[in-house]
Amino acid sequence: MKLTAHRGVSSLAPENTLAAFRKAADMGCEWIEIDVQLSLDKVPVVIHDQSVKRCTNGDGIVAQMNLASLQSLDAGSWFSEAFNDERIPTFEQTLLLANELNLKVNIEIKLYPGDDIALLCEKIKEVIVQLNIDTTQLLFSSFNLQALKQIHALLPQVRRGLLCKEIPDNSLDLLLEIDAFSMHCHYQFLTAQQTAKIKQAGYEIYCYTVNDPEKVKDYWQWGVDMMITDKPQAYVTI
Ligand code: G3P
Ligand code: MG
Repeated sequence: MKLTAHRGVSSLAPENTLAAFRKAADMGCEWIEIDVQLSLDKVPVVIHDQSVKRCTNGDGIVAQMNLASLQSLDAGSWFSEAFNDERIPTFEQTLLLANELNLKVNIEIKLYPGDDIALLCEKIKEVIVQLNIDTTQLLFSSFNLQALKQIHALLPQVRRGLLCKEIPDNSLDLLLEIDAFSMHCHYQFLTAQQTAKIKQAGYEIYCYTVNDPEKVKDYWQWGVDMMITDKPQAYVTI
């Protein structure tokens, strides 16, 4: 059974923090999923929302704050006081830790309206190249097809997964366009027929964000390859 810890083990530690990634390694997870966007001074940082409000003690738009301001914030107390030392990690810090802990990383290229797709992809590439990360340990994903095309051009050796909520009718065309490895969709909308179609075409299929294993117990037989979950610990007993 293949599991990806969504934003790290985000049910047991504040999402997208080094603590959440360490938890994933402690629990024996093979993969973590992270969300990457750019700070104002163009450093790739790991945070999901457009704003820092929900997951830190600050307020403001990530793309309008420089790295120093972002990292001055407490990114853990909103979850629990035990995590008050956590900071918004850079993509670089995250990859270094993942490398040390032998975690594979699903890098979601997170874009909000007005973001510079090409620049985000270029900066992501720079970090990966600079750190000389083994690219077999990485998988890109994005809801944004343009971003996947861009990163394909920059780092063709890293696999790509197309993110969608519901699998569109033209999914095979889109997957072909980005020379994809996988299709990632919301589990509630997936059918056995769609799974068969994607698998027969030679792609892996991943579901997010499945926190109750009961809800997807048939999906493994359908051929789903990976569940992306906040709660890897919930799968231990099945
Ligand atoms: O990669 C799966 C999932 O992370 C996509 O949605 O909003 O949690 O980034 P979101
Ligand atoms: Mg994500």
